[in-house]
Amino acid sequence: MNGKTMEKPWHLRGNWAPVLEEQDATNLPVRGDIPKTLNGTYIRTGPNPSSGHSVHWFFGDGLLHGIRLEDGKAKWYRSKYVDTVGFGEDPLAAGHMGKLDCSKANTHIVSHSGKIYALNEGAWPYAINQELETIGAENYGGKLTTAMTAHPKICPETGEMFAFSYANFQPPFLQYMRIGADGELKQLEPIDIPQKVMMHDFAVTRNFTIFLDLPVVFDLALAMKGFPYEFRSDAGARLGVMPRNGSNADVRWFDIEPCAIFHTVNAHEADGKIIMTASRMGSWSHSDFSEVGKLWRWTIDLATGQVTDEQLDDRPGDFGRINEAFVGLPAKFGYLMEMDGDGNAEEPTYGNALLKYDLQSGSSKAHEFGKSVRAGEPTFVQSGEGEDNGYAMTFVHDEASNQSSFVIVDCQNFDAEPIATIALPERVPYGAHGNWISLANHS
Ligand SMILES: [Fe+2]
Repeated sequence: MNGKTMEKPWHLRGNWAPVLEEQDATNLPVRGDIPKTLNGTYIRTGPNPSSGHSVHWFFGDGLLHGIRLEDGKAKWYRSKYVDTVGFGEDPLAAGHMGKLDCSKANTHIVSHSGKIYALNEGAWPYAINQELETIGAENYGGKLTTAMTAHPKICPETGEMFAFSYANFQPPFLQYMRIGADGELKQLEPIDIPQKVMMHDFAVTRNFTIFLDLPVVFDLALAMKGFPYEFRSDAGARLGVMPRNGSNADVRWFDIEPCAIFHTVNAHEADGKIIMTASRMGSWSHSDFSEVGKLWRWTIDLATGQVTDEQLDDRPGDFGRINEAFVGLPAKFGYLMEMDGDGNAEEPTYGNALLKYDLQSGSSKAHEFGKSVRAGEPTFVQSGEGEDNGYAMTFVHDEASNQSSFVIVDCQNFDAEPIATIALPERVPYGAHGNWISLANHS
């Protein structure tokens, strides 16, 4: 361990380190051609402690990075903090725990029912606009009395949004929520699970929701040491299947091999079975990243109650996305961010490629950026007929030149050069999740 390593934790070094100034640049240089059909804003959030320091990567203030594309031009790039209650403060500080408008808003961007939200699973959503301005905390007219996951799912057929919370410190340790296409909270359902576990994501199908009761267990004694969860395989692991409009009494629990999952890719129903894909780790620790996610598939037979699981690929990858018109339906393609591989205990290093999977066969194609370039989450944007007719877009960073860029890859020509690469005026730290917000749908 060298002196530099001793000095700062991984999330404050290199391109994980926060940028300290908000940016606003116009008319950015483009290599290649931005499709003229892309009119909107890609917005990504990520932890970026405004003080320059945070105890844990998860605890940094949410800094939005937005890039506006219009008429084939990169009109602007902007970075702007989400102006939340608790901005600049430690979320574990006295008085903040359980205060639902105290958000870091640093995990994901989702649009639903005409609104755009910056999300963090420990708090209420924060509404923002396409200029990256903060509108305020959203509690659905007072009906949302708990936090909301940063990974809600929107049904492409009904427009409903499904979400959950694991924020409670006493039972129920899980709550499920269903928000109509009209933006009204229709159901807030307590779900019984035996203990408080960290639950970052879940999955839905056309008729069911799938909860991940995995053994990343809460322990208050650990909070004193900086992070309150740890992996305990003897706590067991279960998938909970509930009709989307069902209740706690309807949940069927299926035991699986203990594992940890940050992100599902998708789930769907076929022949009385539920099929779910996700990036799976055999275990997880907040301080040791020697194992990273790989693509797995679980098949739950609703008639026999049996669950089978299989690893689809041994190449590490996470942050999986699909064409969102196929959420809960049999999507053929998944887009993952390569991870740097097992064995790097110090930081969860992002890889040098984006991966396009055939989710049925497990085969994949890679879009390689080169050894010094690390990529972020690939967000899919549809451009025409056909599931993979569209683009994967993300921020990338070249550690050799210290140059960050925004890239657009043609998903039907995935291993070709990006169709457009937009050079950015400032470093964009490795972050969390983002989405494309069309100008047609939002002002
Ligand atoms: Fe996530």
